[in-house]
Amino acid sequence: MKEITPEQIASIIKTKIDEFAPGVKTREIGTVLESGDGIAHISGLPNAMASEMVQFSSGTYGLVFNLEIDEITAIVLGAHTSVKEGDTAKLTGHLMSVPVGPELIGRIINSVGEPMDEKGPLNARKFRPIESPAPAVIDRQPVNVPLQTGYKSIDALVPIGRGQRELIIGDRSTGKSSIAIDSIINQKGKDVICIYVAIGQKDANVVQLAEKLEEAGAMDYTIIVNASASDAGSLQYLAPFSGCAIAEEFMYAHNKDVLILYDDLTKHADAYRMLSLLLRRPPGREAYPGDVFYLHARLLERAAKLNDTLGGGSITALPIIETQVGDISAYIPTNVISITDGQIFLSTDLFNSGIRPAINVGTSVSRVGGQAQIKAMRRIVGNLRINLAQYREKESFSIVASELDKETKLQITRGKILVEVLKQKNYLPLPVENQVAILYAGTKGFLDTLPVDKVQSFETKLFTEIEHNAPEIFEKIRKDKDFDGLWEETLGKLILKVKEQFVTE
Ligand SMILES: Nc1ncnc2c1ncn2[C@@H]1O[C@H](COP(=O)(O)OP(=O)(O)O)[C@@H](O)[C@H]1O
Ligand SMILES: [Mg+2]
Repeated sequence: MKEITPEQIASIIKTKIDEFAPGVKTREIGTVLESGDGIAHISGLPNAMASEMVQFSSGTYGLVFNLEIDEITAIVLGAHTSVKEGDTAKLTGHLMSVPVGPELIGRIINSVGEPMDEKGPLNARKFRPIESPAPAVIDRQPVNVPLQTGYKSIDALVPIGRGQRELIIGDRSTGKSSIAIDSIINQKGKDVICIYVAIGQKDANVVQLAEKLEEAGAMDYTIIVNASASDAGSLQYLAPFSGCAIAEEFMYAHNKDVLILYDDLTKHADAYRMLSLLLRRPPGREAYPGDVFYLHARLLERAAKLNDTLGGGSITALPIIETQVGDISAYIPTNVISITDGQIFLSTDLFNSGIRPAINVGTSVSRVGGQAQIKAMRRIVGNLRINLAQYREKESFSIVASELDKETKLQITRGKILVEVLKQKNYLPLPVENQVAILYAGTKGFLDTLPVDKVQSFETKLFTEIEHNAPEIFEKIRKDKDFDGLWEETLGKLILKVKEQFVTE
């Protein structure tokens, strides 16, 4: 190694001293030319950066959106009336950031990180910019750890893995938010941090949701970011990005698994459209600005499963889209369908006919598939999708049942039973070991001779029976994630025993 002489060191220090120029740090202050509808036009800030925060004389913050030759435009992050013509606007030198970290757990905050509950200040010690690049391909690893939602029909047929993006899509009142809430409740004890981002909902809904989560003990690991319908459009636009920054802190700095729900991105797109029109950006299809695809793509790209060198944390994103009369070919639905790794379609017809969750099994997919299932589940559901498809195809023949061949009859009976097995009430997410037990009974044909209206009570009885007389079955699935030969036999015997009660009753 080459030695450094004292002379060299001295000369380095000398040049550093020569280069040093004392200066005064200046902060630019501009003037509001015009303000209205949550948009402020400001002059005198030629060095403003896009996405930089400005502070108005009232203390309210703004976010720089458009950079033009002689003025900039900022969206006001607060009440429209808090900024007036003639006010000053100070550049802060910071990109838009939000408080992040474990101090936020159990809290309800708004899009700029102010607490909205009565639990006092957040005391967060860290901030993170709300926009940040998505991890590169080499920073990631394949998705292979299940993220259980607790819904039989999702975990069996459209399994979600940690780090995946799965869209929940359907008309209003088809059970979209219920799936979101239940998948949060189901993370209890699974070491997953949950973030629920409410966009454009009624405040009362969000309060109710928080109560539900509190009741279920789920606020111990959950954060709610709320930009309600009564908040400024700018806050609704920011909410998912704030939520994502909070999620990233847990993934990058704490190596945690995070589940984030965006409820919903339809209202988010609407808020962005409103802002863009007010900012006079050119409208495109359905009057949305041309970059609305990029808006959602860069948000959802930030979901990832990091490689082990980076700590192996993950963000699983479940965006929600509300369709109008089932029209999935509209602009925003098709965009988000193409950005995500699969979608869960909910249909009003199924919901009204009593099939709840109203998941359309034919069109719902998860491109991660069996990789995100435990072995026991993968083994059992192999034929489930095909059985259901065969049933749907032949269902219409069932009126002429007397003329059908034996095989078709069996397919119809089996299908009816399976549809019944997949039904599930909301707020009652099922542990995976329970799911495996009942799905085993259904798919192996044990229930073919059971009246359809007895399936639900059979399920309850089966669970009680296992818990009381063979808890080792649940234990085995929980621990080894698999169960085979001998165990199948034991479970099979139990199923028959419970079934007998129904035949004799
Ligand atoms: N699996 C289910 N079983 C019974 N009722 C359900 C189920 N899922 C949702 N619901 C009920 O349907 C209504 C609409 O659900 P919600 O999740 O708010 O729909 P969305 O978010 O699609 O508008 C709620 O009253 C909810 O309790
Ligand atoms: Mg909803």
